[in-house]
Amino acid sequence: MFRAPVRELAGKNVLVTGAASGIGRAVAEYAADRGAVVHLTDVQAGRLAEVADAIRARGGRVGTAEAADVSDHEQVRRLAALVTAQAGPMDVVLNVAGIAIWGTVRSLEHEHWQRLVETIRIAGIDQQSKAFVRARRHFQRRAVSPERAAEAIWRGALRNRYWIYTSTDIRLAHWLQRYFPPGYALAMRIFNYGANRVLPAVEQARRAS
Ligand SMILES: NC(=O)c1ccc[n+]([C@@H]2O[C@H](COP(=O)([O-])OP(=O)(O)OC[C@H]3O[C@@H](n4cnc5c(N)ncnc54)[C@H](O)[C@@H]3O)[C@@H](O)[C@H]2O)c1
Repeated sequence: MFRAPVRELAGKNVLVTGAASGIGRAVAEYAADRGAVVHLTDVQAGRLAEVADAIRARGGRVGTAEAADVSDHEQVRRLAALVTAQAGPMDVVLNVAGIAIWGTVRSLEHEHWQRLVETIRIAGIDQQSKAFVRARRHFQRRAVSPERAAEAIWRGALRNRYWIYTSTDIRLAHWLQRYFPPGYALAMRIFNYGANRVLPAVEQARRAS
């Protein structure tokens, strides 16, 4: 069914996954502040309820706040049925929960998604290690805040943009990837080397699988 692009948020039904924290929470608050009815889900039930209460407390409309694990097919089906029964089709769906993956939606198989989710679970991260703490501090100094990311996401989404940059770093990295692939490959090798030193368990799990 063809639906016109969404140009403004007032009265629209917006579903957000990963809404209990970070970017998911920020995009949900942004939409609710502008009059959307937000439908929220996350695997963390307690934090999700807190976010829903906070949005209601500032005058926002929460249609649904229902915990679900997006890596569990049955739970996703149940959630979709519940939200659709309560509010009909969504105007916007923001799938924020999860981890980064490269590739077009069409080129990725179910097993790719499965493997990514399991790798994270199996490997875990030693959050107390000095190298990790140092890298996290460095990242936090450079990274854009969830609120700034949310603004960029909504600015792009309401212009019907498929591709949205949330920071200059990412815009430059993508430019390099398109127009100077060898430079991008070199930058990624350096980045991977650094990441593997900070998170050795992830590399070990990747090699073992
Ligand atoms: N491509 C990029 O440049 C880039 C940059 C930053 C973040 N991201 C991605 O954006 C997403 C959100 O980032 P964030 O900083 O807000 O992270 P975050 O950890 O603050 O929020 C992620 C939320 O997703 C929820 N979640 C995780 N697994 C889930 C599951 N299986 N089912 C349901 N909910 C689940 C968590 O409980 C959490 O509330 C992440 O997937 C992250 O990888 C991408």
